[in-house]
Amino acid sequence: MSKILVTGGAGFLGSHLCDRLVAAGHDLLCVDNFYTGSKANIAHLYGNPYFELQRHDVTFPLYVEVDQIYNLACPASPVHYQADPVQTTKTSVHGAINMLGLAKRVKARILQASTSEVYGDPEIHPQVEDYWGRVNPIGVRSCYDEGKRCAETLFFDYYRQHHLDIKVVRIFNTYGPRMHPSDGRVVSNFIVQALRNEEITIYGNGQQTRSFCYVDDLIEGMIRMMGTAADFPGPVNIGNPGEFTMLELAEKVLRLTGSRSKVVHRPLPPDDPRQRQPDISLAKAKFGWEPKVSLEDGLRQTIDYFRKALGLN
Ligand SMILES: NC(=O)c1ccc[n+]([C@@H]2O[C@H](COP(=O)([O-])OP(=O)(O)OC[C@H]3O[C@@H](n4cnc5c(N)ncnc54)[C@H](O)[C@@H]3O)[C@@H](O)[C@H]2O)c1
Repeated sequence: MSKILVTGGAGFLGSHLCDRLVAAGHDLLCVDNFYTGSKANIAHLYGNPYFELQRHDVTFPLYVEVDQIYNLACPASPVHYQADPVQTTKTSVHGAINMLGLAKRVKARILQASTSEVYGDPEIHPQVEDYWGRVNPIGVRSCYDEGKRCAETLFFDYYRQHHLDIKVVRIFNTYGPRMHPSDGRVVSNFIVQALRNEEITIYGNGQQTRSFCYVDDLIEGMIRMMGTAADFPGPVNIGNPGEFTMLELAEKVLRLTGSRSKVVHRPLPPDDPRQRQPDISLAKAKFGWEPKVSLEDGLRQTIDYFRKALGLN
């Protein structure tokens, strides 16, 4: 049993990670400022003697004793991270500095939830870890993309300079139960619109592609990465290489929800990547990971969740 800190533990991914770690018998401290996360995501863990919740903003130092840290705190959807871009950069950069400082003090292993956004609008396809990316440093997405890039830099400088035990995972689009219903991410958008029989909004012509990883697969990959040998800091891609156009996704959601919604097209937002697909050979080779849940199965679980969450049952 380890003492584990999860920052951003009340968020979409963080709450699933908390579930897995508590179920595995670890002593868990969940830290969150509830910027985008919610108590509802973790309320079922209250009362478990191995689960503790602390309201805290990671842009301020934290003094706790732990063996491992999963650093997930950061709003992840454009709607939320662009609402207060300065705070977004602070959360990524100051948050990384504070959590790395904590890891150094207590000699904890620390994992950073980085993102495929570090590749920006990529020129190579699929993206491999040694691709440096094509990111606009001054655009509306930069607070997130550059914040996460700087966090990676800090992780690797702590690794080289202080020999800290770090792990960096680059997460590609992930979906599943407990996504925020109004965060503007494509899977939740489509599902909510379809369940309410509202128009399904597709930005651009709908031919841009994304790959979607179901949350359970993603969490498994993160935990496996945390368990790898100290000489493998990453970065490593975790995501589902299956590629779908936005039109294909909309068609699946319409079919699985039995919705009467119509598809409408809106202009593409600035700096929207046209294609994004992970190369996961490194994760396969290093810790034998690959996603198992098909898009249809994952969508069914997510649709069930939203039906209940929106009171449409
Ligand atoms: N979901 C994805 O597809 C995806 C893709 C790439 C990377 N990620 C990364 O994974 C992590 C979790 O993403 P998510 O989808 O669960 O998003 P989320 O918004 O649901 O979760 C983020 C959590 O961090 C908390 N938080 C934000 N700022 C904080 C601060 N200053 N101090 C303490 N807590 C703070 C929020 O309240 C929330 O609970 C993020 O770091 C994100 O960048 C997610």
